[in-house]
Amino acid sequence: MDTAADITAMRRAITLAARGLGSTSPNPVVGCVILDAAGRPAGEGFHQRAGGPHAEIHALRAAGDRARGGTAYVTLEPCNHTGRTGPCAQALIEAGVARVVYAVGDPNPQATGGADTLRAAGVKAEQGLLADEAETGNAAWLTSVRLGRPYVLWKYAATLDGRIAAADATSRWITSPESRADVHRLRAEADAVVVGSGTARADDPQLGVRGIEGAVQPLRVVVDTGAGAVRPGARVLDDTAPTLIAVADDADARHLPEGAVLRLPRAATGPGLDVPALLAALHGRGIRSVLLEGGPTLAGAFVAAGTVDKVVGYLAPVLLGAGPAALADAGISTITDALRLDVTETVRIGPDLRITAVPGPARKGN
Ligand SMILES: NC(=O)c1ccc[n+]([C@@H]2O[C@H](COP(=O)([O-])OP(=O)(O)OC[C@H]3O[C@@H](n4cnc5c(N)ncnc54)[C@H](OP(=O)(O)O)[C@@H]3O)[C@@H](O)[C@H]2O)c1
Repeated sequence: MDTAADITAMRRAITLAARGLGSTSPNPVVGCVILDAAGRPAGEGFHQRAGGPHAEIHALRAAGDRARGGTAYVTLEPCNHTGRTGPCAQALIEAGVARVVYAVGDPNPQATGGADTLRAAGVKAEQGLLADEAETGNAAWLTSVRLGRPYVLWKYAATLDGRIAAADATSRWITSPESRADVHRLRAEADAVVVGSGTARADDPQLGVRGIEGAVQPLRVVVDTGAGAVRPGARVLDDTAPTLIAVADDADARHLPEGAVLRLPRAATGPGLDVPALLAALHGRGIRSVLLEGGPTLAGAFVAAGTVDKVVGYLAPVLLGAGPAALADAGISTITDALRLDVTETVRIGPDLRITAVPGPARKGN
């Protein structure tokens, strides 16, 4: 049976894992806590960046000899393969750890089997402690492994009556400085930020992370079928972060930097580029999580394609009465087809309300 000390240690490991969000792709975020044989904290660590030591290695280094006979708490099953770093299961065995408690099994076929290796060496290996919490913390990476595409978080900022811009297309600033700062945190946690050509035209957004020390800048992506929205001098082309302009196979993109052009097929039906092809191309470049920042037309296409995994809406206590709604056509024409969500969190951010929701269970695994 898991003790209070087991739960405390695993919860700490989950907190540590979250520190890696935005900088570990294509790897997962992982945290690890080691207690010595007497149950006292001996070491802890988290995976900080791809190619760097895994969480277990950081924790084992911190624990030194005190790991012998102790327990390691890891948010994900210790890996079993030699990639850019050695297998963690072997490192735990060599350090003399007696028991390994891990929250979630590794679904990655190349890395799985760590628990079997531990057991074969006589180490007690137990799965499932705080699995839901650990799974939520690693949702982006787990989704990308299971579905073979990046996890997509769609974020929007709207008035209380659901408008994302005024009738004359002006939209700055609907929400408060506090909400806008919170969006920079979402950007810092994502591997890529995506907007449509309509937003690029209307707002000339820069899409980088500002105000968060040490943040890894996400890849900036504009979905611009005809290559007409992003012109030389656009803020998204500055040198603060890498940028991709996704254009159609046949678009004239000679005015764009060659390395910034991503050629994609057009959507089989409807306007624009093929959303699954865009996500597949990003996945191929190591992108495991996408922050979709709109606008409503592109967000509608993502919803229609069944590729929105989480919605974060910032609602400002403001009324407009006219102007575009947060989401445009998503292929839903009758109420029985409405996409129903489960609210997972509501928080006050300054004067605004942040609502987080995920598609209901019927859509999971989509
Ligand atoms: N408050 C907020 O949260 C927020 C966030 C973002 C934007 N906005 C506002 O939203 C407005 C712009 O929204 P918008 O809806 O016009 O533009 P959008 O969603 O940013 O871009 C839409 C365009 O993306 C291109 N596209 C490429 N592939 C597509 C696909 N598969 N499906 C659909 N479109 C695809 C299409 O143009 P091409 O095919 O010609 O490239 C389409 O017209 C601006 O006023 C902006 O300020 C508000």
